Amino acid sequence: MDSTIVAAVEKLKSGGVVVLPTETVYGLAANALNRDAVEKIFKIKGRPHNDPLILHILNKEWLQKFSNYGQYANRVDRIVEKFWPGPVTVVLPKKDIIPDCVTSGLPTVAVRCPRHEIFRKVLQLVNFPLAAPSANPFGYVSPTSADQVRQTLGNLVDVIVDGGKCNVGLESTIVDLTSETVKILRPGAITAQEISDAINEPIIDYNSGVVSVNPKCPGQLKQHYCTNTKLVLFEHGGQPDILTEFNGKVAVIFNKRPLDCADDISGETVQGKNVFWLSETGDQYEIARNMFGLLQNLDNAGYDIIFCEKPEIHGIGVAINDRLLRAAAKFGNQQS
Ligand code: TXA
Ligand code: MG
Repeated sequence: MDSTIVAAVEKLKSGGVVVLPTETVYGLAANALNRDAVEKIFKIKGRPHNDPLILHILNKEWLQKFSNYGQYANRVDRIVEKFWPGPVTVVLPKKDIIPDCVTSGLPTVAVRCPRHEIFRKVLQLVNFPLAAPSANPFGYVSPTSADQVRQTLGNLVDVIVDGGKCNVGLESTIVDLTSETVKILRPGAITAQEISDAINEPIIDYNSGVVSVNPKCPGQLKQHYCTNTKLVLFEHGGQPDILTEFNGKVAVIFNKRPLDCADDISGETVQGKNVFWLSETGDQYEIARNMFGLLQNLDNAGYDIIFCEKPEIHGIGVAINDRLLRAAAKFGNQQS
């Protein structure tokens, strides 16, 4: 077995914090049943205590140990059967064994069963649930590669397990199963329609594009996933509105390779702008997978401004749009 996996398991067993890959984004993990260990996560991330963590488990048997889902068994059964292990997090009534610091004092707990093999191996070996937020400083771009984590938290965490680039690239869909009508709290790769089909009930979709002003919890903060470099969005299929007198270094991100970029190397200079694209073909899953990585790279590359094209808003595009709106919100109101 990879020596960093062994090191991660040892560290977790002794109450430490490690970085692990998941199929969505990298996570900053600690023993969810150990208050002191969980406290370290908040400290490393600079995360406010009113922002609850997701409990990561190995399988449905663990769900029984940590949540009181009896009343919602039908919904749970169908979601687990269809999507687990995978990028769907369910919110359910919590059992007392989960410390309040994990759930920020809420009577519910958000539970996810990740698909990434390394994460699953670690869960098996430690045999306790892991609390794991995304492995970024609070409010910054989420990491989809080990390098992205090293750049921001490298000095604060001893063990970073490299599991390659995250396959999904956006955080899990969060779905509240405790409300009378099931509700999407955070959009992700698995869409509202897919969840509604699986449970055979109408559900309240996440309001695509409209950022909540009264968030139930901070994953839903208006500003989140922010670069330090000014980020400005432009309409899908359109062009950025770059002032001709602007003298700074400009990066422009398109969904797919623009026709006037003959070269297949993203980053070429077209009329004084550095042009990048998230997908060769415009495939939305590829756009999602590459988005956070490119944003962080450009953030470190000395640009004065980054323009980014909005996605088409359907399927996983709802989640891509959600992340981009929050990332750009710091730089002015761009909600539409
Ligand atoms: O894909 C993911 O979910 C990644 C990977 C690492 O698993 N994790 C992740 O965690 O995105 P984090 O901490 O960045 O986002 C967790 C969000 C909170 O901000 C909050 O919005 C929501 O989960 N949450 C947690 N507990 C909740 C609860 N009891 N009720 C409602 N929302 C909750
Ligand atoms: Mg996060």
